[in-house]
Amino acid sequence: MTVELTINGETNAFAVDPRTPLLDVLRDHCRLTGAKSVCREGFCGACIVIINGEAAPSCLRPVGMLDGSEIVTIEGLAPFEAPNPLQQAMLDHDVVQCGMCFPGMVMTLTKFLETRPAPTRNEIKAALVGNVCRCTGYERIVDAVMSLDDIRKVCAP
Ligand code: FES
Ligand code: FES
Repeated sequence: MTVELTINGETNAFAVDPRTPLLDVLRDHCRLTGAKSVCREGFCGACIVIINGEAAPSCLRPVGMLDGSEIVTIEGLAPFEAPNPLQQAMLDHDVVQCGMCFPGMVMTLTKFLETRPAPTRNEIKAALVGNVCRCTGYERIVDAVMSLDDIRKVCAP
C-alpha cells in the first residue's frame, strides 16, 4: 500500500505494509529518531508525536489508517541547535537524563500548553499521566514548565 504523509511540513509517499506502526515509518524510513521505541503498547508515551493536531502514541497507529495525515515530530518543533522555550526550560532544570522519555514529554506538553497556557502544577502533572519517566523526579519537569515567562511562545510548531 502507498501512504502519503506530511511529516514536519514535507509530503512524501511511503510504500509500506499498512499495518506498519507510524513509529517505525518515522524511525526506519525517515530517520526521525526523536520518537522512541520503548513499550510499543501505548503505555509509556516515549513515542508520542502530533498526528492531525493531537498528541498520540505513534506505536499504536498503523500507517494504513493515516493516509493524508499531518504529523509533527520533535524534530519539527525547533532546530537541534536552537531549542524552543519549553525545551530550553527542561534543559535548564536538568530534566533530561537518559532522554528516552523527553521527546514524548515535549510533544505532550506542547499540545497541552496550547489549550492551557497558564496551567497549575496539578494540571501539568495530570497532562503527563501518559508519559513515563524512569530517571527524573517529575517535580523538576513541572518546575521547568512553571518557569516559562511567556508560556504561549512554546505552542505552535
Ligand atoms: S513506545 Fe509507544 S507508548 Fe511506549
Ligand atoms: S530521562 Fe530517562 S526515562 Fe526520562
